[in-house]
Amino acid sequence: MTKIEKIVLSYSGGLDTSIILKWLQETYGCEVVTFTADLGQGEELEPARAKAEMSGVKDIRIVDLREEFVSDFVFPMLRANALYEGQYLLGSSIARPLIAKHLVGIAREVGAHAVAHGATGKGNDQVRFELAVNALDPSIKIIAPWRQWNIRSRMQLLEYAEKHHLPVPSDKRGEAPFSIDANLLHTSTEGKILENPAEVVPDHVYQRTVDPVDAPDTPEIITIGFERGDPVSVNGKSMTPAALLTELNGLGGRHGIGRLDLVENRFIGMKSRGIYETPGGTILLAAHRGIESITLDRAAAHLKDEIMPRYAELIYNGFWFAPEREMLQALIDQSQTFVSGEVMVRLYKGSASVISRTSPLSLYSADLVTFEESAIAYDHHDAEGFIRLNGLRLRSWAARNSR
Ligand code: ARG
Repeated sequence: MTKIEKIVLSYSGGLDTSIILKWLQETYGCEVVTFTADLGQGEELEPARAKAEMSGVKDIRIVDLREEFVSDFVFPMLRANALYEGQYLLGSSIARPLIAKHLVGIAREVGAHAVAHGATGKGNDQVRFELAVNALDPSIKIIAPWRQWNIRSRMQLLEYAEKHHLPVPSDKRGEAPFSIDANLLHTSTEGKILENPAEVVPDHVYQRTVDPVDAPDTPEIITIGFERGDPVSVNGKSMTPAALLTELNGLGGRHGIGRLDLVENRFIGMKSRGIYETPGGTILLAAHRGIESITLDRAAAHLKDEIMPRYAELIYNGFWFAPEREMLQALIDQSQTFVSGEVMVRLYKGSASVISRTSPLSLYSADLVTFEESAIAYDHHDAEGFIRLNGLRLRSWAARNSR
């Protein structure tokens, strides 16, 4: 085995990665560079710097990735209306390839031949990090301490922390915190009482949305502008991708939009129960479907919907940087050429409902669909032949069955 000289660690400054930092320094006796990504998790990142400094880290990277996250990862995924298992907006899944990309970039820059992450040996995130690193630079070695050390539970982790005088965080109630993953797209909460899917989730688990019951009694109507499939403005005001998603998170959170209590199938093989809050993403999904409804051709729209579950599963399973994901992305992106216009959405007690859509590129023809007399050349007799031919095989089939 060649000796590892330098490791780049994906570091949040939280308990797990603080312990991992110590463990890497002790186990490998080499320099560890820390990388902390600002993905809009809504947490101060300077404490992470201070903690890394205290642990003797010389090269500390804290990088604001919010715009890149939303424009190059979240928006391309939203163009597909991607949902895993029909419900999950993939908030954690889509962040991992971005973090991996920067881990690899920093590793190359500082001449490190290894990267490390704090994902456990039971989850999807380890798979996502490592498949992304494999696809971006096969020469880089990956260290996953959770699979290597003999700490096997959170209890043992806390003991290790105490032994090494590392501060142990607790939640507002003084209890060990849930396993939380937050970014501009969502907050995901797992563990503790949530591990029993029969257990009804107490309201204090939710972080960025109010209970729809407590949301304002008056609805709020907003207008979202789209260009080529991507949202570009809210209420007529142009915004950068990250600013736009931040704005919608605020609006959606206040109206209790985007809560999801889900039992999902992990790639690794087990079922898990989690709580997701995706306020802005939920509004955008409804609005995007709204603008697509008038700008996409039927067959194009249906083809997109057929490949969507496959595309979502690729992202969930960690294959963002894989040729088949890129092929599907090319198809999805091409479909968005004319997906421009404006959608009005009503936010009210947990729901985001499309109430109006307009586009200069609309395919919608009131003249064609109207119940009234219309000028457009539509011969009702054509429908008669259309139905007669489509019914031909059904008539043969029914006649045979009654023989
Ligand atoms: N189960 C989700 C996924 O696989 C979230 C994983 C990370 N969340 C967490 N709370 N640790 O995408």
